[in-house]
Amino acid sequence: MALVPITELLKKAEEGGYAVGAFNCNNMEIVQAIIAAAEAERSPVIMQASQGAIKYAGLDFITGMAKLAAEKATVPVALHLDHGTSFEQVMQCIRSGFSSVMIDGSKLPLNENIALTKKVIDVARAVGVSVEAELGKIGGTEDDIHVDEKDAFFTNPEEARIFVQETGVDALAVAIGTAHGQYKGIPELDFPRLEKIRSLVSIPIVLHGSSGVPDEAIQKAIKLGVRKVNIDTNIREAFVAASRQVLDNDAKEIDPRKVLGPAREAATAVIREKIRVFGSNGKA
Ligand code: G3H
Ligand code: 13P
Ligand code: ZN
Repeated sequence: MALVPITELLKKAEEGGYAVGAFNCNNMEIVQAIIAAAEAERSPVIMQASQGAIKYAGLDFITGMAKLAAEKATVPVALHLDHGTSFEQVMQCIRSGFSSVMIDGSKLPLNENIALTKKVIDVARAVGVSVEAELGKIGGTEDDIHVDEKDAFFTNPEEARIFVQETGVDALAVAIGTAHGQYKGIPELDFPRLEKIRSLVSIPIVLHGSSGVPDEAIQKAIKLGVRKVNIDTNIREAFVAASRQVLDNDAKEIDPRKVLGPAREAATAVIREKIRVFGSNGKA
């Protein structure tokens, strides 16, 4: 199948009350793991590439691998730019063949974030590419956000309403207590805030930094309108742990396939588990 925009997948997720996993890919083995997991679970899937992934693998390699994987797949696959930083980069990804993009203007003042997002939407819409934007600061687990700072960092529901109304964006990433990377403790999500956002905004909500968030919390967020759940760190952990185990068992192993094969299998297993938690299994 050809790559599809995320709007198509998220519309069905909204109707069915589940979420679609968006899994970060950095190399061939992870691309294959994402597709293998989605096929095994009969699930739609979003493959996404970060700045780091594009820098590491090269934009043409990411697009080439994703396109080939999607063509061979019997489930719907989207290729999405994760945390796009500029209008220029978004254009490069669209030209390269991405079916969906994120423009992350969350560091900008609200009016500038709106203007940048609108500029991207004007072009993306014309070529059938979907757009995700971010409001609020998601950050990393190292950015220790104190309770009294919540209002400054988390998504303001009224601003979310204005943002969606003014931009017409397809999906909105919100800051409600998750962070990118490994958590030190157990993250606590601000569900009342999510509920408030959802009451003011009818488009699909995106949850970033979802690795390490307890399954029950993810499922509660899905009940409250989250339709795209981003996972990277848990894939990295499984991939590297499996590679490390091979090398720990035999320090003389020099065949990359013997190291990366089990890593690919471990990544597939984690992604399958996530798909079941998100409830998108059997939906393709
Ligand atoms: O959004 C964060 C993702 O985990 C990507 O991280 O830029 O190191 O690939 P990365
Ligand atoms: P994690 O690495 O915390 O799973 O976050 C992934 C993410 O949000 C990518 O945009
Ligand atoms: Zn993210």
